[in-house]
Amino acid sequence: MLDLFADAEPWQEPLAPGAVILRRFAQARASALMQGIEQVASASPFRQMVTPGGYTMSVAMTNCGGLGWTTNTRGYLYSPVDPLTDAHWPPMPDVFAALCHDAACAAGYPDFQPDACLINRYAVGAKLSLHQDKDEADLRAPIVSVSLGLPAVFQFGGLRRNDPLQRLLLEHGDVVVWGGPSRLFYHGIQPLKPGVHPLTGDCRYNLTFRQAANNE
Ligand code: SIN
Ligand code: FE2
Repeated sequence: MLDLFADAEPWQEPLAPGAVILRRFAQARASALMQGIEQVASASPFRQMVTPGGYTMSVAMTNCGGLGWTTNTRGYLYSPVDPLTDAHWPPMPDVFAALCHDAACAAGYPDFQPDACLINRYAVGAKLSLHQDKDEADLRAPIVSVSLGLPAVFQFGGLRRNDPLQRLLLEHGDVVVWGGPSRLFYHGIQPLKPGVHPLTGDCRYNLTFRQAANNE
């Protein structure tokens, strides 16, 4: 299908104080990012993690960078080691770090230095329930979140779980950055609808860059 906007310049949409959507910001680099995902997953495969409560997450995950987000029976944690392989998580591909830096700068967070990148893979029906990203040691650093492939509905609320939600369709190449006053805002992804994307097939991928360790 002819997409008249395939080569459109990125544009910005304010989301909340400290938060912005950089529409299509990653689109021009999407195939290099996908190659990075495949490279990471060949060393640390996608897996469906089990929450401390014993629930198997519908989203498949892996990580790259010095630290990776994972679960065990006691809780959620960042670890330098992949519990599936007992080896360090693969390094962050250069194309990941460069994109993240450019997006953070565009969103007003030029000093952001991520040490962790969680890679989420959504198959049809996969979802991420409303949650806060709060396992990081220094909450002054923002979150940079990159969407690739099939579109999904992103919910973005406030500091309380029952605050009203904005619902926004995140499409291929969109980048959401949230920090400062909105760093702990609740967010989630509604169940992925079936579809086929030329680059990612029947999946959606999301890269979430974080500064997990306290650098001080
Ligand atoms: C997340 O909250 O970690 C991921 C959000 C997304 O998949 O867009
Ligand atoms: Fe999150």
